[in-house]
Amino acid sequence: MKNFTQFDTRTLADSLIDKALACKASPLEHQEKGKGKRLGLIFLNPSLRTRVSTQLAASNLGVESFALNMDKETWALEMQDGVLMNKNKVEHIKDAAAVLGGYFDFLAIRAFPSLTNKEEDTEDFIINQFIRYSGIPVISLESAIRHPLQSLADMVTIRENFQEKRKPKVVLTWAPHIKSIPHAVANSFSEWALGCGHDLTITHPVGYELDEQFTQGATIEYDQNKALEDADFVYVKNWSAFNPYGKILKVDENWLLKESKFKKNSKARVMHCLPVRRNLELSDEILDGSRSLVQNQAKNRIFAAQAVIDSLL
Ligand code: CP
Repeated sequence: MKNFTQFDTRTLADSLIDKALACKASPLEHQEKGKGKRLGLIFLNPSLRTRVSTQLAASNLGVESFALNMDKETWALEMQDGVLMNKNKVEHIKDAAAVLGGYFDFLAIRAFPSLTNKEEDTEDFIINQFIRYSGIPVISLESAIRHPLQSLADMVTIRENFQEKRKPKVVLTWAPHIKSIPHAVANSFSEWALGCGHDLTITHPVGYELDEQFTQGATIEYDQNKALEDADFVYVKNWSAFNPYGKILKVDENWLLKESKFKKNSKARVMHCLPVRRNLELSDEILDGSRSLVQNQAKNRIFAAQAVIDSLL
């Protein structure tokens, strides 16, 4: 594994899940492994879980980590090649990434999409510029189109909470929101759930179809109640429209997940990557009730990151 930016193969995913569970059982077992290594965490957007869990994971392996809020603490970066830099951007990504590549053994990058430039977002332009110019391994801390560390933690959480021999039935459901939200978590969850062989149904209002490159093999169900009927896991997430790109569409039905929607399903566990807007995206009663796995997911972010850093070491 050279970089960790997306689902690769089921074999690799299974081995990362196994490794994450081994790290969870014994987090400090390989504390000497990363001695003398340095990880740079570069944030172009805010974070709580990703930042802290990745730094804890590095620390568990003896790796020294440094976090930089690129948007606030360093020079404004020009990302486009070949431009005349006579406006407000002070440093070019080509120079900054090469400098960081000389300082660190690996980089981790968070770079959200613009949600205005579909072509650039879809080709994951910013993280690929860091990969291109840093010359060292890069871990995605959420890019324009994927959030693989979150998805790995989600797959670990499903593995821990499903003991049956059959495939788990997993439902990804759209949830309401007031802002235009990226597709990365939903795309990645779909990519990893399908890649890991789960039986995936995606339910959302008409118009909220995700980019098909991430959903091939999933069942699309526009009736949320029907989708929930026999789910083992329900993953709740908002995303903006992919067509028209980044827009919020008018939705008449009530998509907020409440306990009353589980009358026909007592067993389903509910997941969300957090942060969550309570009672807008997901109800208090679900978040605070026995179905909720959200704290397990957040905890597993440490061990997912530890498994990835360990593999890169
Ligand atoms: N789930 C997640 O990525 O959380 P943060 O945005 O707080 O890192």
